[in-house]
Amino acid sequence: MKHFLSLHDVTPHELEVLLSLAARLKAERRAGITHPLLAGKTLGMIFAKSSTRTRVSFEVGMHQLGGHALFLSSSDIQLGRGESIADTARTLSRYLDAIMIRTFRHEDVLDLARFGGIPVINGLTDLQHPCQVLADLQTIAERKGRLAGLKLAYLGDGNNMAHSLLHGCAKAGMDIAVATPKGYACDPGIVEEAKADAKASGAAVLLTEDPDEAAAGADVVYTDTWVSMGQETEKAARLAAFGAYRVDARLLSLAKPDAIFLHCLPAYRGFEVTEEVIDGPQSAVFDEAENRLHAQKAVLATLLPGR
Ligand code: CP
Ligand code: NVA
Repeated sequence: MKHFLSLHDVTPHELEVLLSLAARLKAERRAGITHPLLAGKTLGMIFAKSSTRTRVSFEVGMHQLGGHALFLSSSDIQLGRGESIADTARTLSRYLDAIMIRTFRHEDVLDLARFGGIPVINGLTDLQHPCQVLADLQTIAERKGRLAGLKLAYLGDGNNMAHSLLHGCAKAGMDIAVATPKGYACDPGIVEEAKADAKASGAAVLLTEDPDEAAAGADVVYTDTWVSMGQETEKAARLAAFGAYRVDARLLSLAKPDAIFLHCLPAYRGFEVTEEVIDGPQSAVFDEAENRLHAQKAVLATLLPGR
C-alpha cells in the first residue's frame, strides 16, 4: 500500500491486515502499552472542510504513535489563494512524511498523490470517505465477530459515505443494500467498482428506492446526513426528498433483532435518524467514532514506517 485513497484500491488481504492491526493497537492502548512506531515522523493534515473526528483522531493518533501532526487549513495555506495542488504536493513532500487531506474534489486527492513523493490519505472528498468505513468495519467486526456473510443496509443520500460503504462491504464479503430516493442515487462508476469487488468476494449489492426492502433482515443499519458539506444551498429540497428514509424505530425493527445502528457523525436528530434510535440500545455510534483513532493509526503505521 502506497496511499490510502479509496477502499477499492485495497486488496481483501490488506483490508484484513489493517483491521487486525487496528484491533491490536486498540487492545495495546487499553492495556497501557505504548507503540512509538512513528517516532520522528510528521503528518500534514490539509482541511478544506470542517471536522471534529477526523482532525482530532489523526492528531491524537500521530501523537500516540510517537510522531507529530500539523493542521493546515486550506484557507490559511497558499492552496487557498490559488497555488496548484501539484506545487503544494511537491513542496510539502520535502518537509512531511505523509499528507492527510479533506477536500471537495476527489481528483485533487489523486493529484496530490501523483505529484507528491509521500503517502496520501483521503480524509473525505465529495466522492469517498474510506477512513470512516475502515473504522465502521472494525466496529462491526467487534460487535458481530465477523464481517463476511453479514448484511448492511444504508438509507438516505447516495453520497461519499454510501460510496465508501459500497466499496468496503464488497471487499469484506458483506452484502450491502443501499436505498436512496430518485435523483440521489450513487455514482454509477462506484457502483460498478463495488459490483466487481462483490463478485470476487461473494457478496451481494442491492440498489433500491425502497427503504423497507433495504432494511429487511440487516445486521447493520447505517445512515448519514441528508445535507453534506458543500450542499448547504440545496438544504430545503433535500429535506423534502429524504423524509421516507429517516431511520426510526419502525425501520430499525425490519432489521435483525440484534442489528446495530451506525452513523459516521455528525448526526442531525429528527432528520436522518430519530433520537430513540441513535441514543437507543442498538446504537454503536460512539464506539464507531472511537475506532476512527485505532483504524487510522493502523493506516499510518502501515504507510509511514518504510519512508
Ligand atoms: N465522521 C467524520 O468524518 O467526522 P468529522 O467530519 O467530524 O471529521
Ligand atoms: N456525508 C457527510 C459526511 C461527514 C463526515 C459530508 O460529506 O458532509
